[in-house]
Amino acid sequence: MRPRRFLPAGPLTGTIRVPGDKSISHRSIMLGALAIGETRVTGLLEGEDVLSTAAAMRAMGAQVERTGEGEWRVHGVGVGGLLQPAQALDMGNSGTSTRLLMGLVASHGITASFIGDASLSKRPMGRVIEPLSRMGADFTASPGGTLPLMLRGACPAVPIEYRLPVASAQVKSAVLLAGLNTPGVTTVIEPVPTRDHSERMLRGFGAELEVETDSAGVRTIRIRGEADLKPQVIEVPGDPSSAAFFMVAALVVPGSDLTIENVGLNPTRAGLVEVLRAMGGQIEELNARVVGGEPVADLRVRHSALSGIAVDPALAPSMIDEFPALFVAAALAQGTTVTTGLDELRVKESDRLAVMAAALSAAGARVSESADGLTIAGTGGAPLPGTAGAIATHLDHRIAMSMAVAGLASKAGVEVDDTRPIATSFPQFEALLDGAAR
Ligand code: S3P
Repeated sequence: MRPRRFLPAGPLTGTIRVPGDKSISHRSIMLGALAIGETRVTGLLEGEDVLSTAAAMRAMGAQVERTGEGEWRVHGVGVGGLLQPAQALDMGNSGTSTRLLMGLVASHGITASFIGDASLSKRPMGRVIEPLSRMGADFTASPGGTLPLMLRGACPAVPIEYRLPVASAQVKSAVLLAGLNTPGVTTVIEPVPTRDHSERMLRGFGAELEVETDSAGVRTIRIRGEADLKPQVIEVPGDPSSAAFFMVAALVVPGSDLTIENVGLNPTRAGLVEVLRAMGGQIEELNARVVGGEPVADLRVRHSALSGIAVDPALAPSMIDEFPALFVAAALAQGTTVTTGLDELRVKESDRLAVMAAALSAAGARVSESADGLTIAGTGGAPLPGTAGAIATHLDHRIAMSMAVAGLASKAGVEVDDTRPIATSFPQFEALLDGAAR
């Protein structure tokens, strides 16, 4: 374990750049590994989760090499060309690697074992096992449908029409990726829209994919299988989920005026910006542009008097990873913030409702936990008292980073029991924070 006490700090100022988007980084390596020819990626997130994906694609035959900082080259094997890995695929802490790769393996005639760390080994895989079994893949999972598990792919797999029972981009992507090497048309029906990076990138690589949205907002996504993917040049935009910690830090630390450059603002990811603005946060979008087929802007964030609100549960999918950071903002706002409809937070890297309720309470915030959300009575801008001992992060990077931000806006500081998980998604976090908050 690597504990650290995050101490109260002065304003966050200057200009920073957050690393590449994790979701897009995973997908660029996976699709590059299925194209024939050389895909070049810049701005790739070199966090442990993405490195797990890179290692797995190598183990299945692709050439994946780092050529410079954030610069990678991928030589793919072609759709249908994945090779049987010689060893278990170690997914580390990464749910995205696991679920998306299960989709890829499911329609290849290979067998692969998936293993992961203590956190990942508790997370539900039944949600991908179910549709992929219908496509013909065969699974032997640990009790409760968890890792370690073994997957025997089906070749040819059977195209299905699948209506998502949970709002999950990972489940959607697993089925679409399985559909890539399945004869005919695989259909996913998405009642609640989730991040659409897979759809955008599959199209970019030349897959035949169409999306229809009905008057109720239900999306029907169809992909034609046995596609030939063409290699691409991809520039990965900055990760809004990483920017979130700095947005909240600048809003709650008095005197802050921070510019975060190159933040991805895909509407399926930008819910936090909307909610923080509704709370009174001053967040300006500068220099709006398109990077790698995704909307991007620089965000200028200034210290603001925040007010508590009731967060619309319909926004949850567009900010699903940002709730731990939002809870910190709520703990420092004037009045009460109520969140509901967040059952999915209980099956992330940790149970983020229970773990954030415990951590914020230990730091002196007033929090109550319900089955599907937290209610937080804010301090009205006064610093939190801070923690006596260390808060438990449960191998969850976003808990560690959120509570680091809470420490900046506290009297005694907040001690985090283990900062190592931060490297799964944001290895530069502590250096950037120490540089911006003096
Ligand atoms: C992700 C989807 C989300 C998110 C995760 C990344 C993706 O998970 O929490 O960090 O890249 O598709 P779910 O699909 O389980 O909601």
